[in-house]
Amino acid sequence: MAAEVQPQPLTRKPILLQRVEGSQEVVNMAVLVPKEEGVISVSEDRRDSGQYWPSIYYVMPSPCSCMSFNPETRRLSIGLDNGTISEFILSEDYNKMTPVKNYQAHQSRVTMILFVLELEWVLSTGQDKLFAWHCSESARRLGGYRTSAVASGLQFDVETRHVFIGDQSGQVTILTLEQDTCTLVTAFRGHTGGVTALCWDPVQRVLFSGSSDHSVIMWDIGGRKGTAIELQGHNDKVQALSYAQHTRQLISCGGDGGIVVWNMDVERQETPEWLDSDSCQKCDQPFFWNFKQMWDSKKIGLRQHHCRKCGKAVCGKCSSKRSSIPLMGFEFEVRVCDSCHEAITDEERAPTATFHDSKHNIVHVHFDPTRGWLLTSGTDKVIKLWDMTPVVS
Ligand SMILES: *[C@@H]1O[C@H](CO)[C@@H](O)[C@H](O)[C@H]1NC(C)=O
Ligand SMILES: [Zn+2]
Ligand SMILES: [Zn+2]
Repeated sequence: MAAEVQPQPLTRKPILLQRVEGSQEVVNMAVLVPKEEGVISVSEDRRDSGQYWPSIYYVMPSPCSCMSFNPETRRLSIGLDNGTISEFILSEDYNKMTPVKNYQAHQSRVTMILFVLELEWVLSTGQDKLFAWHCSESARRLGGYRTSAVASGLQFDVETRHVFIGDQSGQVTILTLEQDTCTLVTAFRGHTGGVTALCWDPVQRVLFSGSSDHSVIMWDIGGRKGTAIELQGHNDKVQALSYAQHTRQLISCGGDGGIVVWNMDVERQETPEWLDSDSCQKCDQPFFWNFKQMWDSKKIGLRQHHCRKCGKAVCGKCSSKRSSIPLMGFEFEVRVCDSCHEAITDEERAPTATFHDSKHNIVHVHFDPTRGWLLTSGTDKVIKLWDMTPVVS
């Protein structure tokens, strides 16, 4: 008999430092101000605020949908509901914000903004299904690209000038940007739901995509072998991702309130393709659509299932057991065939992620690697600050 895997007592978990309340609306995006006890946040109620200390409270003329903050230049770019990007410079003590310029970037709501200091570019996507980039010095539009659906994830690799755009159709598009032209490199699809968040690791050259299909996929872009590894650790939409480069840990957050910290410093395995068969690949019993074999052998057709480990098409009887397969990204127990169940060792069942409950439905996160702090923003209109050092180290 196989030894029972004892659940490890969870002693190390994020420490809740602060709850920031008082927003009338859900905070769409927020960042931790470096070295200060401050948060900059934007929300639909038009107020852009640096909350608790130091404190600014800026009322925007139009609802704010997203933002990008560059700590080196203290440049704050705010995307508005009417398609405009408004740029501000924050004072050194973070007590004052000075309007600098506006970009007429989109026809409707700005969904994502990225400021690229090295190239003096402002990249953005909008409800108008456009990706656009502007010169941050002149505010001049440099170029645009029409995406297949509204984008909800935007990342950029400075070295190769690749831009990654994840959209609500589930597609990820990669473009190379020149000064005022762009070239389509490739587009790929792996999710069954829309992409909700993207996160790029420029060192390992992998892209993480989170989706409303509850999964995260790790795309090995640099390896050029087309490896895509699925991470299944949420019971609801994944809505925000962040990557701690120094420890190689991915933080994923979602509608289930879960903060999942994935160890990416392990050799992970791709999930197998699901095989198709007219009968169980273990006991040969026909599946219910195989009328001929059912008739010939006078057997009742069975429902087809798939073993998550080997991908074989099996009947329920031959796949009655469940197992987690952490190296394949299945942190929760999934269906496996009986022979795979026997073959999986306790060592292979050791979790590669830790699970924590934030107690709110997370729509946005920001991770500050220098302090190890995580900001989570929820549909409850509350921002929570967490000390992640017990789990991200
Ligand atoms: C959007 O709102 C801002 C702030 O009121 C304004 O400056 C800008 O002209 C507006 N843009 C459009 C396209 O209406
Ligand atoms: Zn069977
Ligand atoms: Zn199997």
